[in-house]
Amino acid sequence: MKNIIISPSILLCDYLHLENELEKIKKAGCEWVHLDVMDGHFVPNISFGNLFFERLFTKINFTKDVHLMVNDPMSFVKKFAKVGADYLTFHYEACKDDDEVEAVIKEIHKNKMKAGLSIKPETPVEKVFPFLDKLDLVLVMSVEPGMGGQKFLPESLDKISALINEIVEVRSNALISVDGGINDVTGKDCLNMGADVLVAGNYLFGAPDFQERYDSLIK
Ligand code: DX5
Ligand code: ZN
Repeated sequence: MKNIIISPSILLCDYLHLENELEKIKKAGCEWVHLDVMDGHFVPNISFGNLFFERLFTKINFTKDVHLMVNDPMSFVKKFAKVGADYLTFHYEACKDDDEVEAVIKEIHKNKMKAGLSIKPETPVEKVFPFLDKLDLVLVMSVEPGMGGQKFLPESLDKISALINEIVEVRSNALISVDGGINDVTGKDCLNMGADVLVAGNYLFGAPDFQERYDSLIK
């Protein structure tokens, strides 16, 4: 059986008690944390960025799964390497062409991070196929990027299925991660289709019992 990874998105957590929130993640047995960087241009909202992480990352001992929702991802690669990101995922739609996608992946690897490529709901999954041999992760957005707490788009399941077939075909090591509207039901559907990583925000942090919600995602 595949190893299931849960990557809790702290976008909707209680920032006044961030330490407690991180403690909940750790106690639940989770090793990853998903960090959503929004620039107000690629998506309409602004969240947090590299300077915030510089203060935060020194205190946390998770696999830092950074999701860049920004224009010009190339200009941020070194900044996120400097603050200690482990996975750096950028958007296909933020690049002008395939050469730029390739160059950003190269730059991420050069800076000793794992490279992820994400696609918005309207982008065909085939767009990531040419890069599968170089990628460490593909992030399928199952909601429109830009905010937490939205409803899972079921058509994302077909994308996961097409992706896993291609990954097997080309013997890629890329993990399939799914982000947006994940709960106990949609999460199971994604895992059944072949997803490796479930990013969950509102489902985990929007309830009093984090552990119970976490367990419901993995069992
Ligand atoms: C949305 C972000 C997500 C978001 C997921 O743009 O990329 O990571 O926080 O949150 P939920 O699980 O609430 O949909
Ligand atoms: Zn995200």
